[in-house]
Formats: sequence, structure tokens, C-alpha cells
Amino acid sequence: MEVVIVPDAAAGGELIAEAMAELLRRKPDALLGVATGSTPLPIYEALAAKVSAGAVDVSRARIAQLDEYVGLPAEHPESYRSVLRQQVLEPLGLEAKAFMGPDGTASDVRAACEAYDKALEDAGGVDLQLLGIGTDGHIGFNEPCSSLASRTRIKTLTEQTRIDNARFFDGDIEQVPHHVITQGIGTILDARHLVLLATGEGKAEAVAATVEGPVAAVCPASALQLHPHATVVVDEAAASEL
Ligand code: GLP
Repeated sequence: MEVVIVPDAAAGGELIAEAMAELLRRKPDALLGVATGSTPLPIYEALAAKVSAGAVDVSRARIAQLDEYVGLPAEHPESYRSVLRQQVLEPLGLEAKAFMGPDGTASDVRAACEAYDKALEDAGGVDLQLLGIGTDGHIGFNEPCSSLASRTRIKTLTEQTRIDNARFFDGDIEQVPHHVITQGIGTILDARHLVLLATGEGKAEAVAATVEGPVAAVCPASALQLHPHATVVVDEAAASEL
């Protein structure tokens, strides 16, 4: 695992956007796994700026979703599909056909999860998977004690994660769904390159457990230690417990 400490979130965003741009210059139809949350925003902004400047052509890029709420219609502003359309697809000028994600409204959620894992495989696998980290060390929506070998499946959110995410739902925890579909930790580990960005002091403890703790289901992100090509980018605040 490579750990890169950057001065701030903007520098982390620029570093990772450049890694994505380099990948796309080598492999123009690369499959990029993207994450939601506040943390990756500087990455998406930096990548869009590179596209505007003509520094990279993303027109053949493909985008894969990491996780999704169960039960929110795709057009709900806080469904991750909507969020990614607004934060990634539109700024990069990509059409909906470049995008793949699990169906959070499927009547058979289990079948939808299996179908998504298969779709990722059929697409040739994820080339670069972006990850944020929850304050409890979760990646995607793999909460603590998720199996390190898990595949895409339905999960129940912890109270802490619903509290953390209530800010996207007018601060009202009642509106935060209880269930989600998430790529499993095993699914995430199938990507060729994992890039986790963590910024701010609130993530310092989770980052220390990820990088320096034992590989253990209690900190799902520690599974990155098992991956042959994992990069953890942290700002000074998130690195403060290392
Ligand atoms: C959610 C997402 C994760 C993300 C996490 C942290 O739980 N499912 O993929 O990493 O939030 O979000 P933030 O970056 O806003 O702290």
C-alpha cells in the first residue's frame, strides 16, 4: 500500500485526477469506479478542469457506481445515481450510456446485486476504483464486520452512517434509507487500482486503522492492505494519527 500525504484536499484531488487522466491517455475506454460523498468532489472538479483545458479526452471513459440507496427512485436528488450524474457525468460531458450502477429500486434486490457484479465482470473489470472512507472505516457501504470476501449485496446502514449522511437529507435522519446496495469488499478488491482519498481530522482514526492496523473486518478499509496496487491519499489532518 502506498500512502501519499498531501497538504490539503485540493492537492489530493489534483493528484488523483492526474492519475485518472494518465490512465485514460493509456486506455481511453477505461472503466472508472467512482464514489460519492464530499471527499471526492475535488477529484471530479480537477478532472473536469483537465477536460476543459484539453489535457485529457474522456469521451470514451466508462463510469461504474460503488453503492446505492435501496428504495430511492433513480431520479431522487440524493440517489447516488442522480448525484453521480450531476457531479461526474455532466461535468465530464458523458452520456448515461457510459454509466453502470446497481438498481436500488429492483423488486428482487438480491438478483440486482448479482447482476451488477456480473455486469462489472463482463465490462472487463474496474481499472481504477476511487474510494472515500466512513468515520467508522467503511468503504462503499461495507460497514464494520462486513466480510472481506463479500460481493455486491444489500446491507443495513449503521446508525452512525445514517447520522453522518443525514446532512444530504435536510439534516433529517428519518429520510436516510436504512438499506443500501454496495459493491462487496471482494468486489472492490477486484479493481486493478484502488485509490482512497481521506481528508479532514474526522477521518484520522479510520485512516490510522486502515494503514497501520491489522487487516480486520472491524475496519473494512484495512482490506486495502491485501491489494497489490492500492494508493491512500490523505491530507495532513487525516494523516494526524499516523
Ligand atoms: C458514504 C459513501 C462512501 C463514502 C462515505 C464518506 O457512506 N457510501 O462511499 O466514502 O460516505 O463520505 P464523505 O466523503 O462525505 O465523508
